[in-house]
Amino acid sequence: MSDNVVLAITGASGTAYALRLTQILLRSDLHVHLIVSEAARMVSLREVGTDLPGDSAQPAQWQQFIDAAFQQPPASEWGFRELSAPVTGRLSVHRKRDYSAGIASGSFLTRGMVICPCSMGTLSSISCGASTNLIQRAADVHLKERRKLILVPRETPLSSIALENMTRLSQAGALVLPSMPGFYHQPQNLADLVDFVVARVCDQLCVPHDLMERWGAEPDDLSG
Ligand SMILES: Cc1cc2nc3c(=O)[nH]c(=O)nc-3n(C[C@H](O)[C@H](O)[C@H](O)COP(=O)(O)O)c2cc1C
Repeated sequence: MSDNVVLAITGASGTAYALRLTQILLRSDLHVHLIVSEAARMVSLREVGTDLPGDSAQPAQWQQFIDAAFQQPPASEWGFRELSAPVTGRLSVHRKRDYSAGIASGSFLTRGMVICPCSMGTLSSISCGASTNLIQRAADVHLKERRKLILVPRETPLSSIALENMTRLSQAGALVLPSMPGFYHQPQNLADLVDFVVARVCDQLCVPHDLMERWGAEPDDLSG
């Protein structure tokens, strides 16, 4: 299985999901190929109080940014558990218009692609095969190559257009995994709700984690 995972962050609400997912993937010995939309930056400013690093930022800057984001308000008040695993993965950041990036081609092998959070705008563009930026192109590649494409949309209520787009994408092979945390695991804080969704994404990518207790698992059997 390839170590390459494409992660796109778009302008739906839920920056915390993207940051937590990036943290986990980089601690799972994976090579994360990151693409960030302009709208995702606006949402990040609003939700975690800081802009995301620029396209030319080095992986170390991203790592520092993510750690800092979880250590300062508001995220420091959301109750996230520190992760004990060291960062062993790699990060490459791609510009949204760089169609010459490896991930724009089907010959570049990946374990899959996640768009988290996924805006209705990006979802709609992918559903009609627009490919007008690298996020949409890489998603299109994953669909045509029959590789895993995980979309984490967030909007409410949903218009018929959004529902039809999701159906169309699901029928084309994408996995629609809305950021809809459950409450049956008795969350104690916001981190538990974020980790619920991130855990589901990790499961789909076959990334081991211990973000939450599995339903029906023994207390000492939380991962895998
Ligand atoms: C603070 C903020 C929150 C937003 N939340 C959502 C959202 O939850 N879902 C959504 O589909 N769009 C949301 N939007 C609108 C998108 O950012 C907008 O449609 C944008 O064009 C999406 O572009 P992108 O797909 O290139 O990121 C939000 C915008 C802002 C500024």
